Amino acid sequence: MKDARGLEVIGELLKQLADYADYHFLTEEKYFDQFEYTESEHHKDEHNYLLEQVKDFMMMHEKGKIKRDGSESPITVEVWNLLKEWLINHIQVSDKKYVTLFKEKGF
Ligand SMILES: [Fe+2]
Ligand SMILES: [Fe+2]
Repeated sequence: MKDARGLEVIGELLKQLADYADYHFLTEEKYFDQFEYTESEHHKDEHNYLLEQVKDFMMMHEKGKIKRDGSESPITVEVWNLLKEWLINHIQVSDKKYVTLFKEKGF
């Protein structure tokens, strides 16, 4: 984004993000079920929301609805905001809540 190359790399970034999120979320959820994590449903809702957002952005990008116009495209800003939300609200808050249980289960 800093070098105004956001749109060039956003497609590949979103694809990698979706693949990684699919794999990572499914792994977490497998252990939630196995360890009978009580916050599982709420946590899965957050995963689904994040994944939906990434897929929506991918669709918007693929359909070419967002075109380069010389300025930074809004989609790169929105993706950046999603990543910040993911990091701050999900990874640093929600993902930390299961750590104690996972440790108890010998993970
Ligand atoms: Fe996670
Ligand atoms: Fe998670």
